[in-house]
Amino acid sequence: MASVTTGQVQQSGRTPLIAGNWKMNFDHLQAIAFVQKLAWSLKDAGHDFGAVEVAVFPPFTDLRSVQTLVSADKLPIVYGSQDVSQYAPGAYTGDIAAAFLAQLDCTYAIIGHSERRTLFGDTDEIVAAKTAAAVASGLTPLICVGETADDLEQHGASAVPVAQLNAVLDAIPAGTDFVVAYEPVWAIGSGQAATPDQAQQVAAALRTAIADRKGDEAASATRILYGGSVKAENIAGFMRQPDVDGALVGGASLDVDGFSAIVRYQKHVGV
Ligand code: 13P
Repeated sequence: MASVTTGQVQQSGRTPLIAGNWKMNFDHLQAIAFVQKLAWSLKDAGHDFGAVEVAVFPPFTDLRSVQTLVSADKLPIVYGSQDVSQYAPGAYTGDIAAAFLAQLDCTYAIIGHSERRTLFGDTDEIVAAKTAAAVASGLTPLICVGETADDLEQHGASAVPVAQLNAVLDAIPAGTDFVVAYEPVWAIGSGQAATPDQAQQVAAALRTAIADRKGDEAASATRILYGGSVKAENIAGFMRQPDVDGALVGGASLDVDGFSAIVRYQKHVGV
């Protein structure tokens, strides 16, 4: 492949994204309280939302409440869904169409999270179909990829994440913005994060895969996040990596102070 820009994060031209995946936590009242507190805490601290984008991913049932709050108070926080149907509106009991999420002003839709892949049977084909559906409704897909501990042992760190990404890239039309989250399954919820070097190696391999299929411009514009046991104490190491453009945070995103500290990694941890 041709060379891809891998300068320091600050020089990459990519706006860092710190995203909180709440998973199945917080009802809509808790969501309102949390987002309000998060916004106040970050504003109080003088956070520059243009310099580091902040996103939350509440359960579906919270999204209307979050939309109402964000829009009424003009909060500089964006939000998205944790999943999306691959189908257009119709007879699909229990599913949520991308068009409905777009109506709630969702910016992003997480697709292919390892919990969806392992617990709910989301195959690479389904992930690709969901991505196409999200894009068709104007949502930015946040595509999760990652290897299990067995994959790591058998194939090394990047083979499975790159294959998972390749399976979805054709579903994304040229010129469409998307985000990739590298989340090693063994690091999710385990307290055992990847090392910054491991995250960088896989992020670089993912960027190369994007360059190969989508071209250098798309590769250097696409944000690649790391996820898996991210917390305030380890975020700086990841953000120093040239190909890591942010974090997808699970457990630590449920605590306002902890999540704010991650968002403010530049100030707090001296990057
Ligand atoms: P933890 O931060 O709890 O390890 O979860 C990561 C994750 O799955 C985010 O999508």
